[in-house]
Amino acid sequence: MYPDRVVSGMRPTGSMHLGHYHGALKNWIKLQSELPCLFFVADWHALTTHYDDPSVIERSTWDMLVDWLAAGIDPSQATLFIQSRVPEHAELHLLLSMATPLGWLERVPTYKDQIENLSNKDLATYGFLGYPLLQAADVLIYRASQVPVGDDQVPHIEMMREIARRFNHMYGKEKGFEEKAQEAVKKLGSKRAKLYNELRTEYQQDGKDEALEQAKAMLDDAQSLSMGDRERLFGYLEGSRKLILVEPQARLTAASRLPGLDGRKMSKSYGNAIALREEKSSVEKKIRTMPTDPARVRRTDAGDPARCPVWQFHQVYSDAPTQEWVVKGCQSAGIGCIECKQPVIDAIIKEQEPMHERAQQYLDDPSLVRAIVADGNDVARKLALETMRDVREAMGLAYT
Ligand code: TRP
Ligand code: SF4
Repeated sequence: MYPDRVVSGMRPTGSMHLGHYHGALKNWIKLQSELPCLFFVADWHALTTHYDDPSVIERSTWDMLVDWLAAGIDPSQATLFIQSRVPEHAELHLLLSMATPLGWLERVPTYKDQIENLSNKDLATYGFLGYPLLQAADVLIYRASQVPVGDDQVPHIEMMREIARRFNHMYGKEKGFEEKAQEAVKKLGSKRAKLYNELRTEYQQDGKDEALEQAKAMLDDAQSLSMGDRERLFGYLEGSRKLILVEPQARLTAASRLPGLDGRKMSKSYGNAIALREEKSSVEKKIRTMPTDPARVRRTDAGDPARCPVWQFHQVYSDAPTQEWVVKGCQSAGIGCIECKQPVIDAIIKEQEPMHERAQQYLDDPSLVRAIVADGNDVARKLALETMRDVREAMGLAYT
């Protein structure tokens, strides 16, 4: 009923690196030409962990936007915006918070994990507990159907779905809904109306998902329906409620995972990262000094790619013949590690060349980035306000 839409965000807590590129950005870039996409800088989410030192946030926001544009996010295809510039995210977060059980938030796995891992920070705050609920508001406010995220975020998407379902159940009641829905069924015309009723029964009595899908497809095709009737009929299929918020799906990033230089997760704080727009000479130096299989002390010692982080880079960057050359050459001590690293260096530099080029215009003229974001903020805000109008009305806060 609502159009397919993709929403995702990133927290501006430092500069972007190649791990982010391969783990998330590449996927965004692919999606932007397939579906309408909204990508935003989650500056409020950054505050949940950096509330005591927010100074990095503003700079990181602009740097991150340049990184996105450099990587190939195209502002003529995707909408780019800053979360806090669409304050309705906060309004929806507040309204959702009223009916969200504390237990739902406490049992999100990232909650306890992060409190333990970031033990140098006091995360026993109201804002941090609400992190996934703010994230739910970010997505639900656009009635997004898909959210590209890493697998660590899947429980957050699960919770969003529960939040949307609960919201629709609590507030989707409409006076005389049943009667209005049945009137709308009649407007489908006798043949379609009959089919609709059959499919609805099949779904509700036997839980047949195909019946639900088929009925939805039929409604999509039914041109003569008004928006309101269409919404009712969608809701009537699944129960007796209007669907105000949409349950989104997680869209997992195809796994091409680039670890850090030392084989651990790439992260600026581990000092094992290559920045998205790292200087060429620095890329060379970092890869040349990157650790290899510790068993290869001398050039004549045979090695094992499975114990070497350089091999993981080859898995991301090299074609099959090169990979074969690495495995054979390493195991037989036929190639040296410096030799082995060269194709990786070349591939990274090649990958980054267009990024440096694209970034240059934005570095020369930062007002371009400001303008792109100002446009994006407007587009996002308009969509957010449409949803909020329905949300306020459903919750009895329309005051008309
Ligand atoms: N929590 C996400 C992360 O850490 C960032 C984020 C905030 C987000 N709001 C979102 C991602 C909405 C997807 C959708 O990566
Ligand atoms: Fe690693 Fe390549 Fe050296 Fe083998 S030859 S240890 S894969 S860098």
